[in-house]
Amino acid sequence: MLSARELNVFYGVIQGLKGVDIDIYDREIVTLIGSNGAGKTSTLNGIVNMVRSTGTVNFLNEDISRSQTHHIVRKGLALVPEGRKIFTNLTIEENLRMGAYNNLANFTRLRDRMFTLFPRLKERRKQMAGTLSGGEQQMLAIARALMSEPVLLMLDEPSLGLAPKIVGELFTTLRQLREENITILLVEQNATAALTIADRAYVLENGKIVLSGAAQEVLANPEVKKMYLGG
Ligand SMILES: Nc1ncnc2c1ncn2[C@@H]1O[C@H](COP(=O)(O)OP(=O)(O)OP(=O)(O)O)[C@@H](O)[C@H]1O
Ligand SMILES: [Mg+2]
Repeated sequence: MLSARELNVFYGVIQGLKGVDIDIYDREIVTLIGSNGAGKTSTLNGIVNMVRSTGTVNFLNEDISRSQTHHIVRKGLALVPEGRKIFTNLTIEENLRMGAYNNLANFTRLRDRMFTLFPRLKERRKQMAGTLSGGEQQMLAIARALMSEPVLLMLDEPSLGLAPKIVGELFTTLRQLREENITILLVEQNATAALTIADRAYVLENGKIVLSGAAQEVLANPEVKKMYLGG
């Protein structure tokens, strides 16, 4: 579905990503783990061309490395950015409408699907998004991304700041989305949880991939255990 080759990301003189190769196949859950500053967000932003980057990114048989973000979204790739970034002064329903900006003809159908997936959002549809709890805001951020009907959903640390019970619900939702044929690239600090639901994993350090493979193998790797899973 997607392959990135020799992806480099630059912030002025700082290089956030150094020659990363990533492949994502249909209906996989792939996770990207690594410590703070390893280059996880840079990878996602490089893929959707939101930062200065070099290298090639092929998505559904098209080179999107020079494409504008709105074209990439229309083609079926959606990103739930780090820190949610919902519109706090709009209602839940209005936030969902923003997510469907390129797909408004299908708004009602998609909104109702999101309300089935996230019943809490339905109860609060007229409420300002800024007054939702952290977990509810994360649900809204995911629902908003799904309004563009992506085939590939990338999430940047969706579990950040959520209680363990809510993290469990979130990961159940991700599994459910995969059952609906949505492919997932998941960036997580919560490496154990991410490796448990993922098919494959990449480990990033200092802007480079230092390990990749089946999620179960990465989970069992002694170095990974020591570095990311608390021994
Ligand atoms: N806007 C920026 N300006 C300068 N340097 C940046 C910028 N954004 C990221 N970097 C640098 O690029 C490197 C990779 O950062 P990135 O945000 O991709 O890491 P990350 O793995 O997502 O970390 P975290 O887990 O903390 O979110 C870091 O060294 C970071 O300091
Ligand atoms: Mg990050």
